[in-house]
Amino acid sequence: MASFAVVFSHFAILLLSVLPLGSSLSLDYYEKTCPGVDFIVNKAVRSAAYKDKTVPAGLLRMHFHDCFIRVFSLEFSTRLNFFVFDKTNLVLFAWVKGCDASVLLNSVGNNKAEKDGPPNLSLHSFFVIDNAKKELESYCPGVVSCADIVALAARDAVVLSGGPTWDVPKGRKDGRISKASETIQLPSPRFNISQLQQSFSQRGLSLDDLVALSGAHTLGFAHCSSFEGRIRNFCPASNVDPEMNPSFAASLRNTCPVNNKAKSAGAYMDTSSTTFDNNYYRLILQKKALFSSDQALLNFPKTKNLVYKFASSKEAFNRAFVNSMIKMSSITGGQEIRKNCRAVN
Ligand code: HEM
Ligand SMILES: *[C@@H]1O[C@H](CO)[C@@H](O)[C@H](O)[C@H]1NC(C)=O
Ligand SMILES: *[C@@H]1O[C@H](CO)[C@@H](O)[C@H](O)[C@H]1NC(C)=O
Repeated sequence: MASFAVVFSHFAILLLSVLPLGSSLSLDYYEKTCPGVDFIVNKAVRSAAYKDKTVPAGLLRMHFHDCFIRVFSLEFSTRLNFFVFDKTNLVLFAWVKGCDASVLLNSVGNNKAEKDGPPNLSLHSFFVIDNAKKELESYCPGVVSCADIVALAARDAVVLSGGPTWDVPKGRKDGRISKASETIQLPSPRFNISQLQQSFSQRGLSLDDLVALSGAHTLGFAHCSSFEGRIRNFCPASNVDPEMNPSFAASLRNTCPVNNKAKSAGAYMDTSSTTFDNNYYRLILQKKALFSSDQALLNFPKTKNLVYKFASSKEAFNRAFVNSMIKMSSITGGQEIRKNCRAVN
């Protein structure tokens, strides 16, 4: 992972490019320091999911949002994280973020955090991460990063919903920056296939990863605001998105009132929204996907072939999903082990 530091010294600007600072992840990262980590996180996820069936979807999406905000952040600081410079110098850091638990940080003062950015719509289940962290802090204080907890919880969410399991590589660090304005980095449900491809490739993820990871939309719920552009006044020539099945669009118009004041209305992403399965791909083939970004997977031959493949083979989907989750969750870039997941140390 590339990181950069710009140092102002006597009005001279020095640009350093340092490779690679990102710590690499490993399966046995906490073997000596916190051997119970997987078990403890799993216990917190299980007990929350048992009481509230929407928890797994929330945890899986949380990990995605965390990993996808990957920008160079600039900050004046005299706090030296990885370089030993003259402490009197003003240091301007920029680093790659990624799965660094920045999604968990609360807004402080006039800094609006990612959580309070527009695409947060319905991010939830943060308390599960808090519960796991609290337990971990009593067993092995100051050892396990919040970013690793989020990655483990996403895996557990998939398993609890009937999906595949995998070993989660660990060793992420927590970031110190979270800005609502950076959430525009997230792909929009209105994206077409080339925009999706670009968004994923900027994070080192391929079209295969795009199709497999979109399968996470087998779980959960979407608010009308995420798809209402497709069901009414789509364009002058057509009221409804021609890429959507007309009777499906009609049922969504029933669900979503014209004057959607309550803002809580919406639809399940999949007819089996608490079960992790490959039904999502079958819905795409029936033109019953909620978002343009889901339906768009049919618009490149390569992604279309994968939709067909995953619609007909749950095993192929599961294998691809695991592979791509490990890739997505390896985008790292934090600096510390937070004591409290909602605040920097
Ligand atoms: C490909 C680009 C993606 C776009 C444009 C996208 C967009 C969205 C949107 C708009 C929602 C509904 C939010 C709401 O209305 O409340 C949603 C929900 C969800 N997304 Fe995605 N998403 C994408 C990829 C992913 C990935 C890669 C994952 C995880 C691996 C994921 C997991 C989820 C889950 C689980 C939900 C349901 C959340 C819940 O019920 O609380 N999404 N997504
Ligand atoms: C999402 O952001 C809005 C502001 O855009 C904020 O009012 C709301 O509390 C946030 N929701 C969550 C769950 O953080
Ligand atoms: C996707 O949208 C972008 C921006 O609106 C546009 O330039 C591009 O041609 C579109 N691509 C496809 C395949 O529709």
